[in-house]
Amino acid sequence: MSRFILVTNDSGFEQRVREAISGGLAGTLHTSPNVALPETPQHLLLEGATSEQTQVVLLGPGVAIEDAFRLASVFDVQMPEISLVLVADPDPDLALPAMRAGIRDILPPDADSETIRVLLERACRSAESRLKSAHPAQTLVTDAGRVIVVASPKGGVGKTSVATNVAVALGRIAPMSTVLVDLDSQFGDVASALQLEPEHTLIDAVMGAAKQDSMVLKAFLSVHHSSIYALCAPNSPAEADRVGGEDVTRLIEQLASEFRYVVIDTAPGLGEHALAALEKATDAILVCTMDVPSVRGLRKEIDVLNQLELAVNRRRIVVNLADGASGLSIRDIEATLRTPVDIVIPRSKDVAFSTNKGIPLLERNARGPAAKALNRLANHFDPARPIKARRGAHKRAELK
Ligand SMILES: Nc1ncnc2c1ncn2[C@@H]1O[C@H](COP(=O)(O)OP(=O)(O)OP(=O)(O)O)[C@@H](O)[C@H]1O
Ligand SMILES: [Mg+2]
Repeated sequence: MSRFILVTNDSGFEQRVREAISGGLAGTLHTSPNVALPETPQHLLLEGATSEQTQVVLLGPGVAIEDAFRLASVFDVQMPEISLVLVADPDPDLALPAMRAGIRDILPPDADSETIRVLLERACRSAESRLKSAHPAQTLVTDAGRVIVVASPKGGVGKTSVATNVAVALGRIAPMSTVLVDLDSQFGDVASALQLEPEHTLIDAVMGAAKQDSMVLKAFLSVHHSSIYALCAPNSPAEADRVGGEDVTRLIEQLASEFRYVVIDTAPGLGEHALAALEKATDAILVCTMDVPSVRGLRKEIDVLNQLELAVNRRRIVVNLADGASGLSIRDIEATLRTPVDIVIPRSKDVAFSTNKGIPLLERNARGPAAKALNRLANHFDPARPIKARRGAHKRAELK
């Protein structure tokens, strides 16, 4: 089942629902174009078969009101936790019979994506609270946090700088509910970037009791004073072999069930750990620099991700270490990548200095062009950010 099910033959409305969901809600949407509704909820839910718990069903535009009322009243008896939303023109005479039939909310067909997002958020929250009061011990898989994987084909392009700064920025949105994981398991330097001396590392987190129990796992994380947790790489490169792809998969699932944001730094390329992380990613930040090998490498990486259908709709392209002296322009890079660049981070002494100091740039509220670009990148993951700003961001990516 998908988290959201929409029954409509109106592609414009469907598009706005998709924008609303991609603008900050977890979970997938299944659309059924068959506006002649099935007899039972089960028929509808089985159509959008994923492992998610369905929380919201939107009926219309295009569904006959009496059909919507009939199906809603069956849902109300059999699956009262699911929020049924009727998409229909506002009419005071409709509200009372709709509520009696078990419809939880009414949405006008011309609602914009931001209005739809707010309504869907509310509908999910009320579905969750109804489910929790019906089954107090049950928690929803769709509560899982956002998994943001930072990757690049080449080394030294700024993955760790980006990952640490994005994590610090997200720590402001979700204090103590953001974790930065160093999956550059041989040569990771998150500990150095955050000036941490971890007692425990990735190895402890994927072995023994931690793999069964998320509370034990949490005890193995290091706390950084910017209100984020970090899971640092093993002390010796030789130890990295002890961590398999399936360990990474399970670790991310555990962390995503505990944290709102799981930010993952990776080693260059698409090794076993990076691929396992990208399989679990809700978002990928793909980094390159302004040189031909780096851009061509990223193009190939994008091809592989496309073939494997990984993080398809949620990729941000970041050009780092940008300056005007490379002989390449952002437009050249976009042409080679065949995709727009979302964020351009200029080459800046501030970044190099912050790495050497072990103090992420955004921890100091720095205001230079590199800090601004990193903040803009982190804002992409802020659910409070208006959808329009998120949508238009890549079109304005320029080297400033
Ligand atoms: N925008 C920037 N301006 C100046 N220096 C930068 C910038 N971004 C990163 N650096 C510097 O480049 C070096 C490499 O950055 P970083 O470690 O983040 O890259 P990486 O992709 O994680 O490297 P690796 O693949 O080796 O893990 C660091 O010294 C960092 O300070
Ligand atoms: Mg790195």
